[in-house]
Amino acid sequence: MSKFALNDWVLLTSQKGKKWLVRVENAPYSSHLGGIHLADVIGKEEGDWLLTSKGAKLMLFKPSLEDYIFGMKRRTQIIYPKDLSAMIFYGDIHPGCEVIETGIGSGALTLALLRAMCGKGKLTSIEKRAEFAEQARENISLFFGARPRNHQIVVADIETACLSCQVDRIFVDLPEPWRAVGNLSSMLRMGGLLVSLSPNVGQIQLTQRQLLANGFGDIVHFELLRRDWKVDRLRARPFDRMVAHTGFITVAKRVSADRGEGVENDSETEEDAQQELEALGS
Ligand SMILES: C[S@@+](CC[C@H](N)C(=O)[O-])C[C@H]1O[C@@H](n2cnc3c(N)ncnc32)[C@H](O)[C@@H]1O
Repeated sequence: MSKFALNDWVLLTSQKGKKWLVRVENAPYSSHLGGIHLADVIGKEEGDWLLTSKGAKLMLFKPSLEDYIFGMKRRTQIIYPKDLSAMIFYGDIHPGCEVIETGIGSGALTLALLRAMCGKGKLTSIEKRAEFAEQARENISLFFGARPRNHQIVVADIETACLSCQVDRIFVDLPEPWRAVGNLSSMLRMGGLLVSLSPNVGQIQLTQRQLLANGFGDIVHFELLRRDWKVDRLRARPFDRMVAHTGFITVAKRVSADRGEGVENDSETEEDAQQELEALGS
């Protein structure tokens, strides 16, 4: 088991589950549970304890990806772990696949994708705002200790960006995903998956129309609710609060443009979809 060293991340965890993610350095650190000297963490192992000046016991852990995502600097809304885990699984991410992601935001989804890709394949993140790209770049480097070699960030507007590639998977976390679907469809190989996260019903309705109009099929939309339970000697019941609605996940597959005339064919034409977009004032 590796011991904590100078500059490592350490997750200080109280007995009641309160957490602080800090770097191990030669400096004091204090919370409402009292002070510690961070250098005292050096040489200890995961699962060891440290006593604060007020006598509280803090457990020492290396942060998981979930811990890191909640502790890192965030300049945008991030995708929550309950949705990240589902997007990675239903998006069928595996080592070796070629992936596009847009926009990068603070880099939470990027970290989850890179972790699942295990350094193989290639991830291209397309982000419109340079300052968000920079923050995400920093978060990614701090997590992995260096820039992953299979990752590149392109600062561009995905609605007009011109990338000549045919990737296996596309991940979308944009305020107006439907506006990017047409451009993105040309970058996804036949049978490839597009996974999108949107908080609002209107967003997934407009996205559905654009997916149908741009050669996508087998489209599903779903949401996930997480309810934690309080379990002790006397009780076992749900907590009053829960991480309920965060967003809808859409998964679609790229299909051949010729959809035939089967009885189940409910696709709309590009013209139908455009008229509806205009009617909605967007
Ligand atoms: C909610 S954030 C993404 C958060 C990210 N998935 C994460 O987990 O940290 C949405 C991002 O999309 C970017 N964005 C919005 N419109 C865009 C466009 N047309 N092209 C590229 N990026 C865009 C925004 O600048 C923002 O960084």
